[in-house]
Amino acid sequence: MNEPTVQNLFDLTGRVALITGGSGFLGRSLSRALAEAGATVVIGSRDRERAQYVVDELPSPGNATHHAVVLNQLDESSLNDGFTAAVAAAGQVDILINNGQQGHALDLTNVTAEAFNKDLQNATGYFLLARHLRDHVVSRKVSGSIVMIGSMYGVVGSYPDAYDGICVASPVQYHTLKGGIVHMTRHLAAYWAKDGVRVNCLSPGPFPSEKAPSAMVERLKQKSPMGRMGNPYELKGPLIMLVSDAGSYITGQNLLVDGGWTSW
Ligand SMILES: NC(=O)c1ccc[n+]([C@@H]2O[C@H](COP(=O)([O-])OP(=O)(O)OC[C@H]3O[C@@H](n4cnc5c(N)ncnc54)[C@H](OP(=O)(O)O)[C@@H]3O)[C@@H](O)[C@H]2O)c1
Repeated sequence: MNEPTVQNLFDLTGRVALITGGSGFLGRSLSRALAEAGATVVIGSRDRERAQYVVDELPSPGNATHHAVVLNQLDESSLNDGFTAAVAAAGQVDILINNGQQGHALDLTNVTAEAFNKDLQNATGYFLLARHLRDHVVSRKVSGSIVMIGSMYGVVGSYPDAYDGICVASPVQYHTLKGGIVHMTRHLAAYWAKDGVRVNCLSPGPFPSEKAPSAMVERLKQKSPMGRMGNPYELKGPLIMLVSDAGSYITGQNLLVDGGWTSW
């Protein structure tokens, strides 16, 4: 067997990647990473215009045509229609990035049962989309790759003093959700390995957007071994490693990109 080069391993030319939440703060960088690596990218959003705006800005080094689809992961029929529309637009889907996130800014002091259950439904959406990808690639007799976007808060609790007096604490239902997503990854990876489908989780540490309260960000920096927050582009390399042939022997893992947050 000819050994593939590093360039071959990271090249996504000819592959189609569907990403949810591609319009978001991290989703825009993740989408660009997929496009820069040569993939055809399908942006899923609850709003077609928002998705199209991202599509229009994506690079296309190999002249791939990118697409926008409407997809609400908390609505089963929208999720089904969104996956079908992605396949119809791009002809196939080989890679799924479950990145979208809808939640309530309510913490353990005031979250309601209804809000808690609704937020956990994001995991249901991640699973249903993952199963669509698995069934689709199995029917085509090709391999597939799924990345769930988790969080360091799926692995460790948050420091109460990081938020106290500034904003709501990191929501209890978010910790429950992300812990579930990390573990769902392992379960699906074990069942689908023989189908040629790899499932991994990419867990960002602190990547606050410009909307985050600066006083909280200063406190978070004190908690980080590297003493700084992440830049969205710092997720690009890890994502492409996981979805491409560079990660062909990696499945069921949770890769933390957190500046060392979970190391002490
Ligand atoms: N930023 C961080 O520090 C950080 C840290 C750890 C983990 N994460 C995770 O990284 C991911 C992206 O976070 P972000 O900071 O980029 O958040 P963001 O800017 O709020 O983006 C979230 C995205 O989710 C999409 N979305 C919301 N509800 C949806 C639904 N019902 N169905 C489908 N998509 C939906 C939105 O897209 P539309 O409005 O276009 O539908 C939006 O683009 C999330 O899973 C988050 O938990 C972020």
